[in-house]
Amino acid sequence: MADTCSCCLLLLIATAGVAGCVRGDRFSIIDELETLDIEEDFDTEVPVVPSWFINERDGKTLVNVDSFGAAGDGITDDTQAFVKAWNTACSMAKSVFLVPLGRRYLVNATRFKGPCAEKLIIQMDGTIVAPGDPKSWDPNFPRNWLDFSKLNGVVFQGNGVVDGSGSQWWAASCKRNKTNPCRSAPTAFTIDSSSSIKVKGITIQNSQQMNFVISRCDSVRISEVLVSAPGDSPNTDGIHITESTNVVLQDSKIGTGDDCVSIVNGSSNIKMKRIYCGPGHGISIGSLGKDGSMGVVTKVVLDNAFLRDTTNGLRIKTWQGGMGYVRAVRFENIRVENVSNPIIIDQFYCDSPSACQNQTSAVKISQIMYRNISGTTTSQKAMRFACSDTVPCSNIVLTNIDLESEDGSVETFCNSAQGFGYGVVHPSAECLNSDINQSAPTLLLHTEL
Ligand SMILES: *[C@@H]1O[C@H](CO)[C@@H](O)[C@H](O)[C@H]1NC(C)=O
Ligand SMILES: *[C@@H]1O[C@H](CO)[C@@H](O)[C@H](O)[C@H]1NC(C)=O
Ligand SMILES: *[C@@H]1O[C@H](CO)[C@@H](O)[C@H](O)[C@H]1NC(C)=O
Ligand SMILES: *[C@@H]1O[C@H](CO)[C@@H](O)[C@H](O)[C@H]1NC(C)=O
Ligand SMILES: *[C@@H]1O[C@H](CO)[C@@H](O)[C@H](O)[C@H]1NC(C)=O
Ligand SMILES: *[C@@H]1O[C@H](CO)[C@@H](O)[C@H](O)[C@H]1NC(C)=O
Ligand SMILES: *[C@@H]1O[C@H](CO)[C@@H](O)[C@H](O)[C@H]1NC(C)=O
Repeated sequence: MADTCSCCLLLLIATAGVAGCVRGDRFSIIDELETLDIEEDFDTEVPVVPSWFINERDGKTLVNVDSFGAAGDGITDDTQAFVKAWNTACSMAKSVFLVPLGRRYLVNATRFKGPCAEKLIIQMDGTIVAPGDPKSWDPNFPRNWLDFSKLNGVVFQGNGVVDGSGSQWWAASCKRNKTNPCRSAPTAFTIDSSSSIKVKGITIQNSQQMNFVISRCDSVRISEVLVSAPGDSPNTDGIHITESTNVVLQDSKIGTGDDCVSIVNGSSNIKMKRIYCGPGHGISIGSLGKDGSMGVVTKVVLDNAFLRDTTNGLRIKTWQGGMGYVRAVRFENIRVENVSNPIIIDQFYCDSPSACQNQTSAVKISQIMYRNISGTTTSQKAMRFACSDTVPCSNIVLTNIDLESEDGSVETFCNSAQGFGYGVVHPSAECLNSDINQSAPTLLLHTEL
């Protein structure tokens, strides 16, 4: 798709008296971003069944891990009981894989693989804990602890807890102590290569690294989940969405040592609503474009969120030298409190031990709307649009913004960023109008009428 604004600028250069072009363009951009809607009715076929309703009269078969020899004492290794119960539940239609209430199961890294017979419910009422010692971690599972894959039409529900017992992993991280080697740690809970999935109610905590990853999935609804890890636990992203489409995340509370939510390459149609985030690094698109890679994220809406005590608010982060684009994003109805960088686009993101060089290629960022965002910032630059010098950001739209700092001085920073505000925008974002090209646009705008 051609960038509408640069089209318009070309037009300005080619012809005279085209003020209407700019205005018409703005209206159509505003209209496009205001009406950006994420389809949410994709999952009507997998209703969440209330736990009290699950009984065998309903034609469901309860597959209780205890019946397969799980001890549930938090000390005995229950991995084999989980594997056997999974194989049974997965092979029978309408079964309920049950992790019963009031018990604690020690489970090693495990793959729970589909495809399974239809209408599987994973009822998580008890607690599942990971072994805590990184030195005795199974080397065949370097990246995952509980890994669910190739499922279709499956519901995960209950008020159970998935606990990664991550403290020894955090202590061994190079982010905690520079003398440690930089190695990655497992993700606590992964749903991979699956479709029509619901996750409701569960708690995921203290992961070794990322808490909850949705990868290569389509049609996922996550609601009422709680994700938590200490604010200083390294790289413990809350919910990480990669190569996934049609994901709705709602009514959830996330507080971790990294991004509350991170949305990366290959993801589109992502809707988040009623999210509490903090502590953590905010709600992020990215990082994208590391090591020259392709990163594409489109159609993301965050509506109604409260961020408190986070190091960023609404963030888009890309590395120098990437490819691809982030397009059609709307952040709206958001309250921030004690947040540094409430609104930030950072195209100079560099999360590596050595410094990153500036490069000419970059992930293109365009059509990003911020609407009704208010609250308090701890950084003077309440809005920061640090875009690539060679691939400028375009069509950043701001409206009804009110960000304040304790000492009253707030400002907007722009580098190579184009866009506009309307209605109340505080701090003002004049730099979006002029920064993309210091000479040409302003000159043309002055001569237009
Ligand atoms: C769990 O992992 C530990 C450490 O690698 C190993 O000794 C144990 O046998 C594993 N348990 C199962 C059931 O595979
Ligand atoms: C970092 O690790 C080294 C080697 O294990 C240790 O001697 C040092 O005390 C650690 N530093 C901190 C701040 O924990
Ligand atoms: C980005 O996502 C696309 C679509 O899922 C995938 O084909 C591609 O391999 C991904 N690229 C990288 C660098 O991960
Ligand atoms: C603000 O947030 C930081 C974490 O980013 C926290 O350490 C600090 O206590 C918070 N301040 C207040 C007043 O809540
Ligand atoms: C603006 O966002 C806040 C949440 O921060 C919400 O309470 C309020 O209703 C929103 N205002 C409008 C006009 O939607
Ligand atoms: C990269 O470019 C940005 C924006 O022009 C500039 O502020 C920064 O100093 C540059 N960084 C390096 C390492 O050259
Ligand atoms: C700004 O405009 C000048 C003159 O039209 C052009 O040479 C230059 O490449 C433009 N810079 C950017 C960053 O678009």
